[in-house]
Amino acid sequence: MLPIQLKNLERKLPAEAPVELHHADSRALGFADASFDRVLIFFLLHEQPEEVRRATLAEALRVLRPGGRLVVVDYHRPNYTHPLRLLLGAVLRRLEPYALDLWRDEVFTWLPAGAARLVEKRRYFGGLYQQLRIERLG
Ligand SMILES: C[S@@+](CC[C@H](N)C(=O)[O-])C[C@H]1O[C@@H](n2cnc3c(N)ncnc32)[C@H](O)[C@@H]1O
Repeated sequence: MLPIQLKNLERKLPAEAPVELHHADSRALGFADASFDRVLIFFLLHEQPEEVRRATLAEALRVLRPGGRLVVVDYHRPNYTHPLRLLLGAVLRRLEPYALDLWRDEVFTWLPAGAARLVEKRRYFGGLYQQLRIERLG
């Protein structure tokens, strides 16, 4: 995220929220291995070319303890009959070209082999968005 986005987030968080904000590259978070129980990647992967996306996911798993959960929320291929499918496809092709990778392939494709298992996949708004719950294997 940009520093301005972190500032906005800080403003919105309740004062007592048990949250620390850090500005970092998603490929090199700077935390020790296995230091978190949960990692959330929220609408980031669609911004990144494949090699960066792979590095982001590998880094998320690195900082997650074995048995910990990675949650990914991002675009997904809408149902064939979705009324926005054609329009959104054209907009993304022009403005967010990497997002179409998320229409074509499963996020699991870009995770390091054997490092995680998919616990649950949910799709929202006719498939427009997805939420994945992924467990880091030991
Ligand atoms: C679509 S925005 C979503 C931001 C935030 N997750 C939210 O929901 O408000 C994607 C953000 O990812 C940031 N971003 C892109 N590549 C990044 C990277 N390698 N490391 C950290 N942030 C990155 C962009 O600067 C942008 O702020």
